[in-house]
Amino acid sequence: MFLNNRVPQTSQKGTRAPSLGLGALVCALVCGIVAAFASMSGYWRSSGRSADRTLREWDIPANLPISYLQDVSHYENYTRLMRPASGRADTTAVILNWSRFPNVVLIASLLCKPVLDGVISQIFVWNNSPNPVTIKDFASSGCSPEKLKIYNSPSNILFQARFMACAQSSTPYCFTQDDDYLIRPEIIQALRRRMTDLDHAKAVHLLPPHEHLSSQLREIHSADGRLHTSFAWLGHGTIFSRSNAEEFLELLHRLNFSFEEMTMADNYFSILRNEVPEIWFDQGIELGGGQPFTAGTDGDSRNRRHITKAAQYLDGILNCDTWPCISSASGDRRIPYISVAKSPIASSTSSVTKAACAVVTCILETNIRLLLSQSLHTVDSAQAMLSIEEKNVELIGVDGKEHYLSHPPSSAVDGQPHTSFVSAENARMGDFIHLDLLDAVTPETRALDMAFLVDIGTEQILRDCAFASSTDGIHWTLSEVEVQCFDSSVEHEHRFLRECYAPVQVRGGSNTGIRHVRASYQGSMDEKWHIHEVWVRGVSI
Ligand SMILES: *[C@@H]1O[C@H](CO)[C@@H](O)[C@H](O)[C@H]1NC(C)=O
Ligand SMILES: *[C@@H]1O[C@H](CO)[C@@H](O)[C@H](O)[C@H]1NC(C)=O
Ligand SMILES: *[C@@H]1O[C@H](CO)[C@@H](O)[C@H](O)[C@H]1NC(C)=O
Repeated sequence: MFLNNRVPQTSQKGTRAPSLGLGALVCALVCGIVAAFASMSGYWRSSGRSADRTLREWDIPANLPISYLQDVSHYENYTRLMRPASGRADTTAVILNWSRFPNVVLIASLLCKPVLDGVISQIFVWNNSPNPVTIKDFASSGCSPEKLKIYNSPSNILFQARFMACAQSSTPYCFTQDDDYLIRPEIIQALRRRMTDLDHAKAVHLLPPHEHLSSQLREIHSADGRLHTSFAWLGHGTIFSRSNAEEFLELLHRLNFSFEEMTMADNYFSILRNEVPEIWFDQGIELGGGQPFTAGTDGDSRNRRHITKAAQYLDGILNCDTWPCISSASGDRRIPYISVAKSPIASSTSSVTKAACAVVTCILETNIRLLLSQSLHTVDSAQAMLSIEEKNVELIGVDGKEHYLSHPPSSAVDGQPHTSFVSAENARMGDFIHLDLLDAVTPETRALDMAFLVDIGTEQILRDCAFASSTDGIHWTLSEVEVQCFDSSVEHEHRFLRECYAPVQVRGGSNTGIRHVRASYQGSMDEKWHIHEVWVRGVSI
């Protein structure tokens, strides 16, 4: 991300010389993408395409294997049960042109794909640079002029532009991302579907593992239940409601934010909400090119300064004994944006982690622990956020962090059979793996399997699991069929991985199609979970 360059692989992104010609940049970009897709899986056909055609035909693979077995003839009638986005497009995508204009065009071309017609109604390009952008610059994107809205900002106002663009939009939801990342359309679809389920307007952030960990370690609660927040970046892909953006801007104005604070609005967005944000492990694709906004320690200390300021504002507002206490004495003047409701320290919310699935629209949810040690979250003030994170980093240690980054839950739903989600500790009774398809399966669906690609230790765990399906994620129907496992064709550490599956009920109460499947562990065993892939397949004719 251009805001945050704390990991080596991201800080290298800015090293490509900005003086490279546009052609070279586009080529570098396209080659990178071709390489990214080619490396994702041997199952994807990406051979023989010229770079130009790849860009023009920009086609995310539509399929993943139904089975990793040698002989898949049994599955000829099975599919991954994908459902297209239906309904009226009601989301505005906000893209800031920071320094990588070719990326902006590429991102726009992806957002204009027909597959997102039921989600994205407009793409708002906010150009913060002095060189004006016109619709002609997007000629190669394939976007219709009606879908694109371009705003040439008279000055560079950095990140507040996200919220200003969203507040000006005519849709209830906004999706935003930076210009150095590619977010797959099915994940944008998943984010949008998730908004429908939320009982109140809430942002959902996609984060790569290192940022997910940081957000997790920064989560803080006060013992009295008044403070409950964390921090999450927006640039890896975030959806939020327009009302959130409007209220957030209203709050910043009430607080008399300085110009500099306004430009760094991303640093304030999640903390000031005073609600632990929903974060998902992502499946993002990093794009190179351009100049990162945050270079080295300067950017880092700027971020820390603004995060600390955000915490100071929040403490002042919540306690109201120090500046800026903005609620009136009678308490009748509503404080915009900030959630002032007390909520008990709910460790349950953060003990379930979520990861976006690649290629199919679903979310993996699990309560399996990603860290061995308990981290600290109870504080007296929001200003303790960064120091509690430091303590937590020490608690989890180098190995704990390394494990979190190299075997995240997102590796179980990335379509790459060689990467895996590995639990921090041995399987525990009550552990679950839950796939939310975000929509009910069609009435035509006749059979449904929950399938896994695992090592032999995890096969033993799965043999002690109960498999179930559900329409609402609350009421579950147990499967009465035993799990079955076979050698797959995927070799890993000199053995073949095992493919296991359990058929589950296709319909729940009042004959509605199911939307959730789940495996819950009933035993106890000295084995860690190693899940290379988990997916759903079914027959739908
Ligand atoms: C797939 O469906 C066709 C048509 O209904 C049927 O003839 C065939 O046997 C099915 N294949 C398998 C493996 O069940
Ligand atoms: C996008 O922003 C960059 C950096 O500010 C600038 O160099 C570039 O000219 C802008 N793009 C266009 C088409 O103006
Ligand atoms: C913002 O500025 C106004 C006008 O100067 C002042 O009345 C108000 O108290 C300030 N608010 C805060 C939170 O500092």
